[in-house]
Amino acid sequence: MDEVESGKQKASLKIMFLYRLKILILRILGYEKPLRVALFKYLFIKFRQFRPHYETILLESAVQAKKLGYENVTVLELGVAGGNGIITLEKYKKNIEKLTKVKIKIVGFDSGEGLTKIDSKFDLPFYWREGQFKTDKKKLESHIDSKIIYGDVKNTIDEFIKTNPENIVAIFFDLDLYSSTKNFLNQLSKLDKYLAPRVYCYFDDVHLPENWINEHNGELLAIKEFNSKSENIKIGQALDNINDFKFPLGKNHLFVLHNFNHKDYNKFIGIDDENSLHIGDTRVRTKIF
Ligand SMILES: C[S@@+](CC[C@H](N)C(=O)[O-])C[C@H]1O[C@@H](n2cnc3c(N)ncnc32)[C@H](O)[C@@H]1O
Repeated sequence: MDEVESGKQKASLKIMFLYRLKILILRILGYEKPLRVALFKYLFIKFRQFRPHYETILLESAVQAKKLGYENVTVLELGVAGGNGIITLEKYKKNIEKLTKVKIKIVGFDSGEGLTKIDSKFDLPFYWREGQFKTDKKKLESHIDSKIIYGDVKNTIDEFIKTNPENIVAIFFDLDLYSSTKNFLNQLSKLDKYLAPRVYCYFDDVHLPENWINEHNGELLAIKEFNSKSENIKIGQALDNINDFKFPLGKNHLFVLHNFNHKDYNKFIGIDDENSLHIGDTRVRTKIF
């Protein structure tokens, strides 16, 4: 390469570097949330077994189960892949069991073979590929005690029911695909007597940085279609609120399944204090912990 050519290349590299820098600055300055949240999220992406949202959902599920008088609860992870999620749940469960005295059984569901066949446009076939995220079963077994039910979720609910699940209080949905999520949701009526009155549902795939997911595809579409057919079970999301401090990094992903026909649905677990809101009552009941 002659000197003129190499000079041109250096100039072009410099222009591209400055351009990237400009975009980076635009994105940092225009980021609409506090930067500490981005940093917190970055830590979760980098260290896959650091999941404040999994921990606080598990904690709140157990706390509410305790209020309802349940000693044993079940938590599901749908879509296990390599196992980072379920390993993390097992890690968090130890302290939560000690604190609440509620025994937590964790059950994972996975095909074992990675993402199932992608037939539908609503599965985002331009983003997900069949066979992605295959499970190394032997390796996973050496890291966890929880049971994993292998097979397509559309065929494995009966096998799960045979394990006598008690009080499902939380479900971590991470099947990626519209069709898989829908296939699981369609079977919820079979599970209604095993579901707690209210079940925290974490949906991992309701957003992509490219903004490709919305109510017309993926998990959000599966939820919408489920709700349009189901009467006694509904899955919804609370409004954004300044009081929303209990689930760091869970915001936007957290839904609650209401199992309206549950025998304990109306059991009172609210604030039980006769003097509440009396004149001069200055007590703050919203506890961070
Ligand atoms: C993104 S991965 C799960 C990641 C995992 N939750 C974690 O936190 O590391 C998605 C998983 O869903 C599983 N999956 C997708 N559709 C399924 C189906 N219909 N039945 C069973 N498993 C399915 C795939 O095998 C894949 O391992």
